[in-house]
Amino acid sequence: MEQQRVALVTGANRGLGFEISRQLAAAGLRVVTAARELRPAEKAAASMPDGRGVPLRLDVRDTRRIPVAVAEVLDDLGRIDVLVNNAGILIDATESISEVPEGVVRDTLATNVFGPLLMIQAVMPAMRRQAYGRIVNMASTLGSFADITDPESPYAVVDSPAYRLSKGALNLLTVLAARELSGKDILVNSACPGWVRTDMGSDRAPVAVEDGADTPVWLATLPSGGPTGGFFKERAPVPW
Ligand SMILES: NC(=O)c1ccc[n+]([C@@H]2O[C@H](COP(=O)([O-])OP(=O)(O)OC[C@H]3O[C@@H](n4cnc5c(N)ncnc54)[C@H](OP(=O)(O)O)[C@@H]3O)[C@@H](O)[C@H]2O)c1
Repeated sequence: MEQQRVALVTGANRGLGFEISRQLAAAGLRVVTAARELRPAEKAAASMPDGRGVPLRLDVRDTRRIPVAVAEVLDDLGRIDVLVNNAGILIDATESISEVPEGVVRDTLATNVFGPLLMIQAVMPAMRRQAYGRIVNMASTLGSFADITDPESPYAVVDSPAYRLSKGALNLLTVLAARELSGKDILVNSACPGWVRTDMGSDRAPVAVEDGADTPVWLATLPSGGPTGGFFKERAPVPW
């Protein structure tokens, strides 16, 4: 019998991370609900359907903890089939590029780029051994060159330079990782969930969290031969 697939979702305690975890568990995967603190990770794990949640304490800015945490999961569960790099911050809603403090840019890149990079590096050996993997990076239209150079974009009025830099870099990370893994059944893609009603998206956002989670869950469960190195929104490719 095929072993039950294991997914690891960062920032799984609330917002999109929680909903992605719930949908993956409902689809039959065991889901490691990773959160900065153990309590919220345990609470999220306990909410997963059919007891499929496994808690993990993991702050993606804790660079030394990342490989240790991944090793703990591999010791406990034997495999990691899916990584959803969901944890992210947006802490520069109002600043312009000329004013954004260096520390805000560094903090944003630490969580939104270095976290996913180190997570990918940590899970890659297991995925290569298994000859199977699905990696989903939670990107954003705000990190798209096509969008930022489009004067008609609805996001033309949004600054958030640190966040935009981070999500643009995350998209490049997707392409670089996909290229290194090409020819293997390890598919790496970026997802834009849309503007979603979460703490980050606010209650003004038009997209429900259940719908925002759909594309990342679809990418996390792609069949063999599915796309890799792409950027998707509503299950369709979007320009970088
Ligand atoms: N909402 C949108 O409209 C939207 C649009 C495009 C892309 N996205 C992306 O989708 C992802 C999830 O967004 P969201 O709307 O669900 O945001 P959210 O409601 O603000 O939730 C963010 C999650 O990330 C976690 N997190 C932050 N820093 C972390 C760290 N250092 N280590 C581990 N976890 C950390 C938070 O944990 P704590 O509870 O401990 O803070 C929380 O679980 C993000 O990458 C975001 O950029 C969202």
